[in-house]
Amino acid sequence: MTYFKTKLTAALLVIVAGAFLGLGCSSDDSGTNSPPPSNVGNPADSNVITIDNFAFTPAALTVKVGTTVTWRNAHDESHTVTSDTGSELDSPLLATGGVYTHTFNAVGTYPYHCTPHPFMRGTVVVEQ
Ligand code: CO
Repeated sequence: MTYFKTKLTAALLVIVAGAFLGLGCSSDDSGTNSPPPSNVGNPADSNVITIDNFAFTPAALTVKVGTTVTWRNAHDESHTVTSDTGSELDSPLLATGGVYTHTFNAVGTYPYHCTPHPFMRGTVVVEQ
């Protein structure tokens, strides 16, 4: 009985140690192989801006001309996406879960804010 428990414990230790080493190994690999976080040239997730905690994240986003950017309100407050000047960005009030999309067809810098909370600020830079 004791012998069996000892063997079982030893086997478990080997498994745990193996898992730990394996995890460390794969973590090292992904660390060296994955590119640094960037919003440029990474179209999959990078064109989504999350609205939460009275902030746009990322607050600054650079995209290529012709890109559609999506704002998603994950906050339990309503917000807008509104150009500081002009009307390039002019969302309605977005409730929780609300989404606003806009396609940028001209190169430029587009600063915007949230109308109910003017301290909420963001910028989209559109480049060729
Ligand atoms: Co707001």
